[in-house]
Amino acid sequence: MVTQEEIKKGEEIRKRLLQTKEVEKRIAEKMSKIKHKLMVLSGKGGVGKTTVAVNLAVTLALKGHKVGLLDADIHGPNVPKMLGVQHAKLEVNEKNMIVPIEPIKNLKVISIQMALPQDDLPVIWRGPLKHKAIQQLLDEVEWGDLDFFIVDMPPGTGDESLSVAQLIPDLDGVLIVVTPQEVALLDATKAINFSRQLQKNVVGIVENMSGEIFGHGGGKKAAERYNVAYLGSIPMDAKIVRCGDEGEPFVMKYSDSEAAKAFEEVVNNLLKVLGEK
Ligand SMILES: Nc1ncnc2c1ncn2[C@@H]1O[C@H](COP(=O)(O)OP(=O)(O)OP(=O)(O)O)[C@@H](O)[C@H]1O
Ligand SMILES: [Mg+2]
Repeated sequence: MVTQEEIKKGEEIRKRLLQTKEVEKRIAEKMSKIKHKLMVLSGKGGVGKTTVAVNLAVTLALKGHKVGLLDADIHGPNVPKMLGVQHAKLEVNEKNMIVPIEPIKNLKVISIQMALPQDDLPVIWRGPLKHKAIQQLLDEVEWGDLDFFIVDMPPGTGDESLSVAQLIPDLDGVLIVVTPQEVALLDATKAINFSRQLQKNVVGIVENMSGEIFGHGGGKKAAERYNVAYLGSIPMDAKIVRCGDEGEPFVMKYSDSEAAKAFEEVVNNLLKVLGEK
């Protein structure tokens, strides 16, 4: 026989599931008002996802688009540092909503980093908690009217990527960053298969760090192999590392450099793919 205690527990679970459904509905509704939503993904770490996400977001903002940038890398959030806002503290407005940080005009940023009590504390969370954190960053942040929403993902294809894919059902798609070597093809394959399994469109591939060390062409090859758009290639440039470390958006500080022009080209190609040009 079912005990009173079990009935009560069952009711609590049902209530929680209903609440979750409501939150998901609210997020989906909010997201549906943003014209373009992208997730920046790669098959492995350190290929330059955050660098690409930040510089694309800044380039779009400089063009006058209203951009939201969500750092969904819970274990290694680098977006705030790259934009020089790692010490910014979050505030809550009169509607009890979290106010995103605006490092430059037209760009709103949120990262789990900003909610940590201490900058150097590691986050040790399992899947459900990470899902909850991403849910909150989507639901409880006053994003306002946006033209673009860019989500910087942690390396690989784990919990966070699944959460974002699920919580933003009408995502325009996934932007995949790869390095130029032959072996990068394998990494691209993982990211592409992941996107296809989740039935998410691949908006295109960006090759990053091309040059003498890693070579050229891996991104284009991957795009051809999988029949997805090739958005362009960003050269290796030591100034990119310095800007990232010093928290200055590269495309603003070195707007005349070859790499900044390459970012501009990637953005123009992306706008074409998204039907904006
Ligand atoms: N085109 C480039 N030229 C030179 N250095 C670069 C370039 N792109 C990225 N970097 C540097 O490579 C390092 C890794 O970049 P980044 O943090 O953007 O990679 P990531 O894919 O986001 O890493 P993770 O998987 O850890 O999130 C950083 O120090 C960054 O400054
Ligand atoms: Mg990163």
